[in-house]
Amino acid sequence: MAQNVILITGAGGFLGSLLARTLASDPQTADVKLILVDVIEPKAPSNAEALAIKADLTDPAQADALFSTGFGVPDTVYCLHGIMSRGSEDNFDLGVKVNVDSVRAVLDATRRAGQRAGTLIKFIFTSSLAVYGGPLPPVVTQDTIATPQSAYGMAKLVDEIFVNEYTRRGFVDGRILRLPTIVVRPGAPSAAASSFLSGIIREPLRGLESTCPIGDSLASPALDTLALWVASPETTVRNFVLARQVPAARFLAHTRVVCLPGFTTTVREEIAALERVAGKDAVARIRFEDDETNRRVVSSWPARFDNSYALGLGFVVDEGGMVPIVERFKQQLLAGEV
Ligand SMILES: NC(=O)c1ccc[n+]([C@@H]2O[C@H](COP(=O)([O-])OP(=O)(O)OC[C@H]3O[C@@H](n4cnc5c(N)ncnc54)[C@H](O)[C@@H]3O)[C@@H](O)[C@H]2O)c1
Repeated sequence: MAQNVILITGAGGFLGSLLARTLASDPQTADVKLILVDVIEPKAPSNAEALAIKADLTDPAQADALFSTGFGVPDTVYCLHGIMSRGSEDNFDLGVKVNVDSVRAVLDATRRAGQRAGTLIKFIFTSSLAVYGGPLPPVVTQDTIATPQSAYGMAKLVDEIFVNEYTRRGFVDGRILRLPTIVVRPGAPSAAASSFLSGIIREPLRGLESTCPIGDSLASPALDTLALWVASPETTVRNFVLARQVPAARFLAHTRVVCLPGFTTTVREEIAALERVAGKDAVARIRFEDDETNRRVVSSWPARFDNSYALGLGFVVDEGGMVPIVERFKQQLLAGEV
């Protein structure tokens, strides 16, 4: 098997493209060969040996073909592609097709490729805090049972069970990362119910208006009561890289699920961070239009987790809350990086 070949699905998306750029510029992985896949043509980092493939992974044949590209058998698959939370809530059938069926197709293709090559391929799957819902303890721990209250969370949990079972049976070496909500996301608003959490920072920093679907005005108590579990893109992608390095024996014996570290914030704290970094004019660009569906989906997600298991495995956490994240995004905007 060729060493240091990494396959990333969803590589045209936000975290997949950042992961590809991070792997390409990290001295520890700079010699890596990247196979980048997305239903939209992914962009390969200029400083990496990379193959960019446009493929629709709802077609199992296209998933299988990723393992016979001539680039070698990957030692690691990062399975990041998917339809985000609001998108899969609004179109249930498409959500299941992409978020369950195509993930299983990639998992099966990984299993077959590993068996052909006589190796155990690492399968790193990005899950979400959306697997949780219903009555929850004040702090979610590794032992909290996941009872999703959205189509997106349901699909992620189904995938997790497959990845755990394929790991138990020795088909793949699975690592399941339950992500916090990632802020600030660059680019256009996405079909995630959490999209506004980035939008209310990103758009005002660009001098544009943004809509907040929580509360009717800046005075709304909902801005204080809706607590959120978040992490920055840089810290999260650093944790994706670390997930490949954790020795298999360090994970709990009965599950490969890890809740990646995050911190608790509120919409009010986000707006305060925006004001601190960019002033009252930036805050004035936020319009409030309460959206019941959006509020219900976001409110069903837990906002406090125990980070200790993940930190014990060597994963890292953002320090300093929202202000450094907003400041970093502003600097990236000024530098034309986002
Ligand atoms: N960003 C977050 O806040 C967050 C939070 C929790 C979990 N996650 C998870 O992390 C992963 C990456 O998230 P992201 O924010 O980068 O999402 P994204 O929407 O930016 O990227 C997902 C990519 O998947 C691709 N895709 C969709 N259907 C496909 C198909 N049939 N075949 C091939 N590619 C297809 C899309 O084109 C897109 O580029 C996802 O699995 C997501 O569920 C993200």
